[in-house]
Parts: sequence; structure tokens; C-alpha cells
Amino acid sequence: MKILIIGTGYVGATTAMVLAESGWEVTGLDVDAFKIERLRQGRLHFHEPSLEDLISKHVHSGRLLFTTDKETAIAEHDVIFICVGTPSQPDGNADLRYVQQAAEDIGYWMNDYKLVVTKSTVPVGTQEQIIAWIKAAQRKAYPFDVASNPEFLREGKAVEDALQPDRIVIGTDSASATEQLQKLYEVFQCPWIVTKPRTAELIKYASNAFLATKISYMNELARLCDELKINVKEVADGMGLDPRIGPSFLQAGLGYGGSCFPKDVSELVMTSRKHEVNLHILDQVMEVNRNQFTYLLDKARSRLGSFADKNIAVLGLAFKPNTDDIREAPALRMIQELLLEQAKVKLFDPVAKLPGHAAYEAVTVCALVEEALQDAEAIILCTEWTEFEQLDWENLKVLLGQANFFDGRNMMDARRMRGIGYYYQGIGNDY
Ligand code: UDX
Ligand code: UDX
Repeated sequence: MKILIIGTGYVGATTAMVLAESGWEVTGLDVDAFKIERLRQGRLHFHEPSLEDLISKHVHSGRLLFTTDKETAIAEHDVIFICVGTPSQPDGNADLRYVQQAAEDIGYWMNDYKLVVTKSTVPVGTQEQIIAWIKAAQRKAYPFDVASNPEFLREGKAVEDALQPDRIVIGTDSASATEQLQKLYEVFQCPWIVTKPRTAELIKYASNAFLATKISYMNELARLCDELKINVKEVADGMGLDPRIGPSFLQAGLGYGGSCFPKDVSELVMTSRKHEVNLHILDQVMEVNRNQFTYLLDKARSRLGSFADKNIAVLGLAFKPNTDDIREAPALRMIQELLLEQAKVKLFDPVAKLPGHAAYEAVTVCALVEEALQDAEAIILCTEWTEFEQLDWENLKVLLGQANFFDGRNMMDARRMRGIGYYYQGIGNDY
């Protein structure tokens, strides 16, 4: 089987790597010639630990090719993965135009049987639409199957998640498609779920929405912890030992961001409304998340009186550590609000870059954390990069205007920070 991956973003590039690593010949296809040129040299266009090394290894072994030529690519490959983005539209529905484009390209250029596999996160029922789009674009009625095979990759840990998946979900009505995918993934020793396409599609949304629910629950609970002078991290440790709850995704903070949770929760709510079912809990999950960054901002404002003309050091921009992805990053909303309130914002992130948008012109982007801290009247930590924890906070105090530390990820030890002279506030991590 020769495999084609359409879309070489986070998901497509990782899928291409893992299939090449499993021994298959893989080609990545993208409309973006710049990305393809870099990938051809074994270089990545985004930050993802270890991924570039593995891509480079397979580019050099010849097992991994990259192209922008869709006609040849579609004609020459048997299994075609759709990994293009599915961003949210302003009304909350998923924008399927890139998936439709990929399906129509496949239909138009196919010259034989193809197995089309959807990895992009798509609303329930999209598999049926993909079949219709392919058929409508076909010049001759070649046979094909469409299977849903959702990804469960965390950015920053995509390589680990791809090489050691906790499950493989296949949604298809075709025995031949199931057989081909089982062969493709035969090296993986993990549970399999082979089910109907709609079920596979919903498993993805239901998983992400459930994880987002855990986070919003902890974020609300953290507010109660603040009032009760209880540390939410200890509560999470105690809860997490119950195997029915599990220790993951119980970290209170500034809320969830990224390219998946916000859009997936919103899409699931839209789907439920279309079917006249109310997922009330998810409305609340979104509401808590929308306002979570303001909880810390309010704490900082009440300490400083106002942000006007105050130097504020924002540490961390990426929506989570170990990635340069800033899609829906809580730090962006934090910065926008600080600017609105006339703060002088200095930003440091080890890898993520601010968009070149006029809205952020007033931000001073610093190459060193010390520059951001110089004369700062408050530090607001938005992303838990390990290196922030390792800084010598005691000695760094001399740079600051005022030693006020607002920890949006509960990264620091509250006792220690207060012990060395900081006014320190996190999110429910008092003691
Ligand atoms: C993925 C999934 O596709 C999305 O559905 C999931 O919910 C989150 O992760 P991601 O890999 O993060 O998206 O998206 P992105 O980094 O934007 O990559 C998409 C790639 O597809 C880009 O490289 C883009 O250039 C390419 N693309 C887009 C095409 O090749 N053809 C198109 O028509 C549109
Ligand atoms: C997510 C899913 O985890 C993955 O399975 C899916 O396929 C793609 O979407 P990703 O968005 O890359 O992955 O990152 P994830 O680690 O899930 O974090 C998402 C957001 O939740 C981040 O902003 C993170 O900071 C936040 N988060 C996570 C919390 O606030 N608390 C937690 O306990 C965990």
C-alpha cells in the first residue's frame, strides 16, 4: 500500500511520520509550497519535539516524500488520508471547505480504487458527505471506500501519542477498508474499536468535550479553593487516585486553548442543537472557559489598582508548553485585555511568536526573560514552560519594579514564592 497524506499540518505531518516509521511508503501533499519545500529538506514548519528528527530520517531514507502535485499524488496512491484543518466558523459550526476540496480533488483525479481515510476532526455525518463529494467530482465511477479514523494527538506530545496510541478507532461499513487499515496499523499493540462511521466521528468529539469538561470543572472548583484557602492541586491529587476519575486533565489554570478543544466543544453543541438536544453541560464548560483568564486578571488588577501605564511581564504565549501553536491561546486574550486597559506589555515565550497583527503592535516582544521582567510591576505567567519553573526567582527580584507574581498555570510553589518575598497568586493554589 502506498499512502498519501493530504494536509501536512500538525496532524498530517505526524501521521506521515508514524506511517513511515511503521515501514510504509508515504507522500505528504499540501497546497502550501513553502511548507512542502521545508519538509522536502527534512525540516518542519512548526515546533513539535522530536518530530523534525523523525521526518528528516525518513526523508533521507526515501520512505517519505512531499509534493504539491495533487494530480500525480492522488493517481499514484492507494490509501489517502485527509488531514486538512477544520476550523470553527463564526457561528460555531466546523468549516468543512478544506475537507470538501480534498474530497473533490480525490474524486476528480482518481484512476482506480482508493481507500479514503478521514483523520481531520469532522462533524457527525461528514463521512456520508465525503462520499457524496467524491462521487459528484468523479469523471468515471471508480470504486472507493471512506473510513473515519480520528486522531488523538496532543501537540507537544504528538510523537509519543502517535507511536504509542492508547486506541485506534475505525469507523467504516466496509470490511475491505477495515482489513486494509488493520494491516496499515498492524505494528500497534493497542485496543481497537471498529464501528460505524458516525460513532467514530462522535467518539472524537465526545472525548475532547469530556476532557474540556474536566478542565472547566477544576477551574470552577479552584475558585472555591481560593475562598476556602485550599490548594486545588492537592485536591486534584486526591481525586486522581480514584481510577474512575484518573489523574489527568485536572489542572486548573487559565482555561483550555488550542486548535481542538474550543472548536470541538462548540461544534458538538451545534450538532446537538441541530438535533434538538441540549448539551447544557457543554454550554457551561464554554462559559467557564471564556471567563477563566479574567479571574486571574481581576486578581492582578485589584493588587495594582489599575493596569494603566504599568509594566506587565507576560510569560508564555503558546496555548500549552512544547508547542509554538497560539491558536485560541488564553495568553492572547490576556494580552488584548491588558492593552485595552493601557498596560505596557512585555512578552517572552521560548518559541511562540505573536501574530503580525496591528492589535499587538504595542507589545514589546523580548528575546530574553530578563528583558520582560525589567521594571515589571507584575508578572503574569500564561504557559507552563519548564524553564520558567527553573529560573532563579530570588535573584530575578532585583530586576522587578514590584515583586507581584500571578501564576495562570499554578506552576510555582506558592509557599516558596511567598517565602522569597513575592506577592504570589495562582488559581486556587493557596494553602
Ligand atoms: C488538524 C485536523 O485536521 C483538525 O481537523 C483537527 O481537529 C486538529 O488538527 P492541524 O493539523 O492542526 O489540523 O491543521 P493545520 O496545522 O492547519 O494543517 C492543515 C494543513 O492542510 C495545512 O498545512 C494546510 O496548508 C493544508 N491544506 C489546507 C491543504 O493541503 N489543502 C487545503 O485545501 C487546505
Ligand atoms: C487535544 C486532545 O488532548 C487530543 O487528544 C486531540 O486529538 C487534540 O486536542 P491538544 O489540544 O494538543 O490535544 O492539547 P491538550 O494537552 O489536550 O491541552 C488542551 C488545552 O487544555 C491546553 O490549553 C492546556 O493548557 C489545557 N489543559 C490541559 C488544562 O488547562 N488543564 C489540564 O489539566 C490539561
